[in-house]
Amino acid sequence: MAAPMAQVGHMMCSKTLRCFRRFSSGKGVKRKIQKSSSKVQRPIDEIIQNITSPRPVSFQQMYHLRRQEAHRSILVQIPSKKHISSVYNQVKPLGKVMNIFHFSHIRDYALIELESRAAVQRVLRSASHFSNDEKIPVESRVLLLTGGFESVGKQTIPLPVQSDPKEKFEISDCYNATGLSHQIEILYHRNHLTDLGCRLRFFVCSKLEDMLSGLFPHCAVLPFGSTVNGFGKHDCDLDMTLSLLQSEHQVGKNPNLKFMTKKRTDNERGFTQRSLQTVADIIEQFVPLCLGVHRILNARVPIIKFRNDACNIECDLSFSHISGHRMSEVLWVLSELDPRVAPLVFCVRHWARVNEVNRKHPGPWVSNFMLTALVVFFLQSHPQPVIPKLRTLYHPVNPHDDFSAPFMSDYTKVPKTKNTDDLGELLKGFFAFYSSFDFQSRGMSVIEGTTFSKPDFSPVYLENPLDVNLNVCKNINIPEFERLKKAFETALWNLETNGEKKQRAWGLMSILLPNGNGNNGKLHVHVGDLFSQRSESGNQDGNQDGNVDDHQVDNQGGNQDGNQDNVSDMRTKAEPSH
Ligand code: GTP
Ligand code: MG
Repeated sequence: MAAPMAQVGHMMCSKTLRCFRRFSSGKGVKRKIQKSSSKVQRPIDEIIQNITSPRPVSFQQMYHLRRQEAHRSILVQIPSKKHISSVYNQVKPLGKVMNIFHFSHIRDYALIELESRAAVQRVLRSASHFSNDEKIPVESRVLLLTGGFESVGKQTIPLPVQSDPKEKFEISDCYNATGLSHQIEILYHRNHLTDLGCRLRFFVCSKLEDMLSGLFPHCAVLPFGSTVNGFGKHDCDLDMTLSLLQSEHQVGKNPNLKFMTKKRTDNERGFTQRSLQTVADIIEQFVPLCLGVHRILNARVPIIKFRNDACNIECDLSFSHISGHRMSEVLWVLSELDPRVAPLVFCVRHWARVNEVNRKHPGPWVSNFMLTALVVFFLQSHPQPVIPKLRTLYHPVNPHDDFSAPFMSDYTKVPKTKNTDDLGELLKGFFAFYSSFDFQSRGMSVIEGTTFSKPDFSPVYLENPLDVNLNVCKNINIPEFERLKKAFETALWNLETNGEKKQRAWGLMSILLPNGNGNNGKLHVHVGDLFSQRSESGNQDGNQDGNVDDHQVDNQGGNQDGNQDNVSDMRTKAEPSH
C-alpha cells in the first residue's frame, strides 16, 4: 500500500494540496439537524462549520495528506493555554505557522503545524538541551517551553487556536432530541474522532518514524484501523505497522553498487520478534512521552503495546502487514460513500458495548470490526441498498485479480443511493434484519451483497472480503451468538415500543441503558436516573485505564467459553486470523 500512496503524493500538485489542507474528520454532508436544546446544539453547529471544506476523494489522498501534515508538526508542552502566544513567538521567525491546536491531558500542549519540514528543522536546530547529566540528549519534535513568557497574554495570534469540544456523549443528551435519528446524530458527533485526534495519532507515528530513521532512513510507521477507517472514536487506540523499507524507496538504481548489510539469521517470525524487541527497547529508553512499553512477542502476530502519555493514546505496533491497511481502505471508502454509514456503525457499536454483547478485550464475542461488517452487509441487503456491493468498487487489473486489487481512485464517482431512510429507520431495520436472519444456513458476502449456503457450522458466517475462504466472525461461539441474537430482538422490541418522546427513556435511550438487554423490553428506568449516569465511561471502550493485560484476559475468556482453538488467534488484534 505504501507505494501507491507515495505515487499519489508525487502526482498531487501544490494547488490540490492547498485545496485539501483544511479537510476535517467530520462526515461530509450538511444534514438537517433540528435544534431542540442548547446543550446538544453547540458541538453539532461547530461540526457543521468544519465540514464545508473539500475532502479527499481517495484513501491514498487522505493518508498522504495526513502524513505530510504530521511530518510538518511539532508538539510543545506549555505551562498553560495562555502560553500559546509565547510558543508562537518562538516559532514564527523560523517558519510560517499553518495551524495551532491546544489540548490538555494532565499538562497543556500545543500541536503546531508549520509550512514545511524545513521550517520544522529550523525550529529543532534552534532548540537547546537541558544541561543536566541525568537527561538523555534525545532530539525529537516534542519540545518543552521553559521561558520567553514576556508575551503571555499580550500578543494576539493571527490564526485561531483550535481545540476539541469538551463535551462527550452522555445518555441524558438524548432526552431532548427531536427523534431517534437526531439521537443517533448526537451520539456520533459527540464521540467520533476529531481532526485533532487524527492529527495526534499521525503525529505519534511520524515521531516514531523519525526516531528509527537513523538506522532505516526509509522506514515508515503507518497507522491503520480506526484512526484511518472512518469509524474512529475520540479515544480509540492507535494501530500501527512498521515497515523498514518502503518499496518505492529503492534509493539509487545502480545495480553495481549495493549497500552491504547483514543476513537474517533466523526465520521471518524470529526476525520480527527480535526486531520488535529492539524497537521496544528504543521506545522505552529514548522516545519521549511513550510509557508503559509491553512486549507481546509470542502472540500469533507479535506486537508492542505502549501509551503516549501526552496525547493519551494507547498504541499497538506490529511489523508490516498489508491486510490491516487494505481493510482500512475498504472501510474508509464505505464510510465516505454515504453520511449515514458511520453514525449507524457508531450507534450499533455503542449499543453492543453497553449491552455487553461486545467487550473491550478480544474474546469469543462479536468484535467492533465484526459489527461494522454486519452493518455494511445490512446496508447492502436493504431493498433499496444504501451502499453498493464491494465488487462494484474495485478496479481489477485483470478478471482474475482478487480483492486486493486497487479501489477506484475517486469514490465520489460512485452513483448515489436512492435510499432516503433516516438513521432511525435504518437502526430499526438493522435490528429487524438480524432478528430474523437465517444464521443457521446462510453466510453473508459483502463482495456480492448477497447470502450463500454456509460452508461450515460457525454460528455466524461473514466472508472476509480480502480472503473469501475465511470467515470474519469465526471467533463467535454459540453462547455468545445466542446472546447477540437475543439482544437484536430485545433492541428491536424496545425501539418499537418506546419510539415516542415521553417522560421516560425513549428512542435510543431505551437500548443504551446497561442491562437493558434481557429485561424483556420493559423499562424500569426513570428519567432522573438517566441524568446521573454516563452511558459509556472511558474505561469501557476508551482504553483509559492503560490496561495492557487484555491479551492475558482473553486467554481466560477463551477457556471459559470453550473456544480454545480460537484463543491464540485472538491474542492480538493487529492482524486477525480470519
Ligand atoms: P477500535 O475498536 O476502535 O480499535 O476499532 P479498530 O477498527 O481499530 O479495531 P481493532 O483495533 O480491533 O483492529 C484494527 C484493524 O484490524 C481493523 O480496523 C481491521 O482492519 C483489522 N481487523 C480487526 N479485527 C479483524 C477481524 O476479525 N478480521 C479481519 N479480517 N480484520 C480485522
Ligand atoms: Mg484499533
